[in-house]
Amino acid sequence: MSTFAERVALCSLVSPAFEPGSASAKNDVPPLRLGVMASGSGSNFAAIARAIAQGELNARIELVIYNNPGAKVVNRANWLGVPSQLLDHRTFETREALDEAIVQALRSAGVEWVIMAGWMRRVTERLISAFSGRILNIHPSLLPSFPGVRAVEQALKAGVKITGCSVHYVELVVDSGPIIMQVAVPVLPDDSVETLQARIQVQEHRIFSQAIAIASQQVKAIAADN
Ligand code: GRF
Repeated sequence: MSTFAERVALCSLVSPAFEPGSASAKNDVPPLRLGVMASGSGSNFAAIARAIAQGELNARIELVIYNNPGAKVVNRANWLGVPSQLLDHRTFETREALDEAIVQALRSAGVEWVIMAGWMRRVTERLISAFSGRILNIHPSLLPSFPGVRAVEQALKAGVKITGCSVHYVELVVDSGPIIMQVAVPVLPDDSVETLQARIQVQEHRIFSQAIAIASQQVKAIAADN
């Protein structure tokens, strides 16, 4: 049986030195309790897990929620020993009903911060108000350019020379909330959607955990001011 550290490494990530939850042992600050929402491959989830395992982010992933039965993120979650729950949007009558189930699942798992890592559904006020100011999303463009679906394709079609990725707070309008971090990625003359997306993802994996740490500091600072 491999350890959590070995499993993170086998998720094609570098070898970490920590067991789950041990990041908190470095200081007295309790780890942020994260809930990840993902629809697909889950490479951003794995990158956050790596940052935690390496002691770069003081957090625990309490639960992964996924909406597509075949989503690869569940394999990564199983491999890393992170609990996961399928909430298939096709089995809910409304977006609100799905979001209500998501809120219940996240609350039962004790989640404080909601991390949308490739969640391909629009969310409603039900989720946003339940985790007010504590929902983050990653998007593969320099917002406010190219919001919505197929952002990389949109950038290529527009002929921009620079695109990138953004981590932002989630508001009701898709991809619209305050931006926490961005990285620029040059568009190369012979780029396809796949090659450009791959280079953007390298940057996504670098910044998401950093943005989570920044957001938690921002929320703490605001709370201290009040
Ligand atoms: C990422 O490119 C993210 O920007 C977008 O969905 C993709 C998810 O990728 N929102 P993965 O599932 O984390 O590999």
